[in-house]
Amino acid sequence: MKVLASAPTKVTLFGEHAVVYGFPALVMAIQKRVEVTASKTSDGVVRIELPELSSIGLKLEIRNGEVEIKKVQNALKHASYVVETIKELQKRANQSCGAKIMVKSKLPAGVGLGTSAAVIEAVGLAYSTLLGITMDKKEIAQLAKHVETLVQGKSSGMDASIISQGGIGLFRLENETPVLQRLEAKEIPIVIAYIKKVIPTGEAVARVKAIFEKHKDITKTIFEAICAITEKATRKILENDLNSLGELMNLNHGLLCSLGVSNLRLEQLIHLARDAGALGSKITGAGFGGSIVCLLKNEESAKNVCQVLKPFCDGVFLAKRDNIGAQVQIIGS
Ligand code: MEV
Repeated sequence: MKVLASAPTKVTLFGEHAVVYGFPALVMAIQKRVEVTASKTSDGVVRIELPELSSIGLKLEIRNGEVEIKKVQNALKHASYVVETIKELQKRANQSCGAKIMVKSKLPAGVGLGTSAAVIEAVGLAYSTLLGITMDKKEIAQLAKHVETLVQGKSSGMDASIISQGGIGLFRLENETPVLQRLEAKEIPIVIAYIKKVIPTGEAVARVKAIFEKHKDITKTIFEAICAITEKATRKILENDLNSLGELMNLNHGLLCSLGVSNLRLEQLIHLARDAGALGSKITGAGFGGSIVCLLKNEESAKNVCQVLKPFCDGVFLAKRDNIGAQVQIIGS
C-alpha cells in the first residue's frame, strides 16, 4: 500500500503567547503544505527521509523501537516529531509495520509557521493509514498536540487544531481543552517573511513565562489588551475592514515587543513593510527570530512589499488561505 498525506502550515494573525494563558488567538491555515508519501515494506523497519527539513538531509530508521540516525550532522527537532509520531501510533495500535516515509516541506522548520504540527499530522495520517487505522480531524489534532508536548514542552494545541481543520478561526483553551471556532471571512492580502530561528518555541514560551511570573499584574494587563485586540480583529475581519485590521496588527506587535520577543532583524522587517505600504505588520508565532506577517490593501501592494523585504530575510511570500486541512489518500496498492 502507498499513501499520500499532506497538511497545511499556519499563520497566527493575532493573539500568540496570550493564547498559552487561555486568551483567544486568530489563526489561519496557509497553502504551504507539508507532503508525506509512505509505502508499506515487509522487513518491519520504518525508514524516514526529511530531505528539506534539515540543511544536510536526514535519514532515520526505527528498529524494534530503537531509532538509528543514518545521516546527520546537525539533527533538527523535526526528526523527533516524526519519530515520536510513529512510536505513539505503534503504541496506540499495539502493532507496527515496516514503511518507507518521505517528508517534504515547502517551508523550513522552526520559523513559527506550524511546520512541526503539519509534519506530525501528515506523518500521523500516512502511517496510521498503513496500520489500517482511520483518524478523524479531531483525533489527528489531539495526536499532534500530544507529540508537540512530548518534544517541545507545553503547547496550546492551536497549530494542531487549525492545521487539521484548515480555514481561519478563533482558537482558545477552555479548561485546557483546545476549542476552534471557524469563521466565514473573505480572503485578505497577507505577506509573510521569515528569518531562520535560533530559539525553539518551548524556550520562547518559557522566557515569556519568566516575565509573567516576575511581573504578573502588568503582564496580565498586557495579555488582556492582546485579548481585546484579537476580539476586535475578529469583528473587523468579518466586516473586511482592512484599515482597522492593520492598525490592530500594529497594536498587537507593540504588546509583543513589550514581552521581549522581538529583535533587531524582526523590527527591521516590520518597519520596512510599513514604510513600503503595509496597512499593518507584526511578529507571528513565538518570536525571537522566525516570522512576521503583514497586511496589505491589495495583491499588487503585497508583491511590492515582497520585493522590498526579500534582501533582508531568508524567505518571503504572499500567503493564501488553505481551506482543506490535513488529509490522506491511498495512491497505490
Ligand atoms: C505558537 O505559534 C506560538 C505560541 O503562542 C505558542 C503556542 O501557542 O503553543 C507562542
